[in-house]
Amino acid sequence: MTKAINILGIETSCDETAAAIVTDGRDIRSSVVASQVDIHQRFGGVVPELASRAHMEAIYPVVSQAFEQAGMETGDIDAVAIANQPGLTVALMVGVTAAKALAFALDKPLIAINHIHAHLQSAMIQQESIDLPAVALVVSGGHTSLYDCESPLDLTLMGSTIDDAAGEAFDKVASILNLPYPGGPSIEKTAREGDHKAINFPRSMLAKDSLDFSFSGLKTAVLYYCQGQDMKGKSQVPSMTAQQIADIAASFQAAVVDVLVAKTKRAAERINAKTALLGGGVAANSALRGALKEMCGKTNIKLLIAPKNLCTDNAVMVASLAWHKYKAGIFADLTLEPKARA
Ligand code: KG4
Ligand code: ZN
Repeated sequence: MTKAINILGIETSCDETAAAIVTDGRDIRSSVVASQVDIHQRFGGVVPELASRAHMEAIYPVVSQAFEQAGMETGDIDAVAIANQPGLTVALMVGVTAAKALAFALDKPLIAINHIHAHLQSAMIQQESIDLPAVALVVSGGHTSLYDCESPLDLTLMGSTIDDAAGEAFDKVASILNLPYPGGPSIEKTAREGDHKAINFPRSMLAKDSLDFSFSGLKTAVLYYCQGQDMKGKSQVPSMTAQQIADIAASFQAAVVDVLVAKTKRAAERINAKTALLGGGVAANSALRGALKEMCGKTNIKLLIAPKNLCTDNAVMVASLAWHKYKAGIFADLTLEPKARA
C-alpha cells in the first residue's frame, strides 16, 4: 500500500483566513475558516488593508487549529499548499509568506494553487474520476468564468465576465436594497418571499455565440428601477415595503441564474460535455443549483456541484487540488510570489 499523503492547504486570497489538512485529496482531516465579514460589513465590501491585517492576526491560530483538529503534528504533513493567485495582493501575501516559511522550516515541498481552479476542485473532491468532456462554471465574488475541464489541473478558459462578477452583482444589489453584506446569502433569503416574475430585469447574453458574461447592466437596471419607484413617488428605497424588496431580490436573482444557466448550456453544447461542474461562493445559491440541475437533467449531463460548505472560500479545496500537483510532481520554490491576476 502506498503511503497516504497529507497536505496542509492555506487560503488568504480575499477575506477568509483558512487552513485545512486533507489526506490523499479527499479525506478532510481538518478545515478551519476565520471569516472577516464583521470587519468589512460596515464598508459593504472588502477593504484590502484591513483584510491584510486580519489575515496576519489570524494566520498562526488558524494553521495551529488545523493541526489540532486533525490530531497531527507538523512532521505529519507531506507538503504545504498555498493559493497564490488570483486575489488581493496584500491578502495573498500573508498566506504566501506563511506557507513559504512553513515549507522551509519543515523542509517540505511547496505547492502553488490557482484559487479559481481550487473552487472547481470543491465540485470534484469526492470523485474518483469524471466523465469528459466537462464544462465548468466558477461563480464567486471576484470571478465568473466558464472552462473546458480536462482534468483538475487542465482547464481552458471558454468565457468570463467583461465587467462585474456574479457575486459582486449580488453584493452591489444587496447594498442598493439595504440588505446586509455579504449580499448573496441575504438576497437569496429575501428572494424566498418574493415573486421572481415581478420585474423583468435584462438578461445580458452579449453576442450570439459569446460565452462571456456581463452583469453591470443588470445591477444598473435594479438601481434605476429602485430610483424609478422613488420618482413615481410611490416609495423611497429605504422605505420600500418588504414585499417590494423581496420581489426585486427574487427578480434580480432569477435574471442572474437565467444567464448563468443559458451560458453554461451554450458552453456544454460547444464541447459536447458529459459533465458540468459548479463551484465558487455563488454556487451556494439554491436557485442556481436547482436551475442548473434542471438544465442538466434535460440535456443528460451529469452535474457535480460543490457541497455548500465548500462553495465559499476555504482551504480544503486548496489542499485537495494540491494532491493532484503532488502526484504530478509539480512544485513551487521559495521565490513564489502572490499574483493579483491569474
Ligand atoms: O468564493 P467566494 O467566497 O470568494 C471569492 O472568491 O470571491 O465568493 C463570495 C461571493 C460573495 O459575492 C457572496 O455574496 C457570494 O459569493 N455568495 C452567494 C451566496 N453565498 C455567497 N451568492 C448568491 N447566493 C448565495 N447563497
Ligand atoms: Zn473564492
